[in-house]
Amino acid sequence: MSDLIVSGDVARLLHAAREVIAHAHAPYSGFPVGAAILTVSGEVFAGCNVENAAYPLGLCAEAAALGVMVSARGAQRLRAALVLTARPAPSWPCGGCRQRLQEFMGAEAMVYAAGCGAEPVGMPFARLLPLAFGADDLAPGPS
Ligand code: THU
Repeated sequence: MSDLIVSGDVARLLHAAREVIAHAHAPYSGFPVGAAILTVSGEVFAGCNVENAAYPLGLCAEAAALGVMVSARGAQRLRAALVLTARPAPSWPCGGCRQRLQEFMGAEAMVYAAGCGAEPVGMPFARLLPLAFGADDLAPGPS
């Protein structure tokens, strides 16, 4: 399967994110999030945010989705990710989750943000995290 997004992919991601956002544990922020990721082989995995009374221990939805993927299939390359919030306007992944996604996404992979009020909007990953730090930086060679 190619790295290109086809129209049905965004609908699949949105459907998966809607299912998991219903399970978000966000009693402290009141900001439920659902994230869904699409592998290059066409599988979709999803996760929601999981907050904790010890606030810094809370888990973002993207981290949860990546954990589900790696636990089920090991590390996979991603073609796309979608983040769904319960507000009308979309929100983009936080900085930490951009770095988490970077581990599995190339510059051309697409990231979509969806609020409850409109169609998802998308942009290539490289626009969300330019000059990203990644595995290549750790490769042996001249520093
Ligand atoms: N959150 C996510 O799940 N993903 C993001 O990219 C941004 C923030 C969660 C963390 C916390 O549970 C709530 O949203 C408010 O910050």
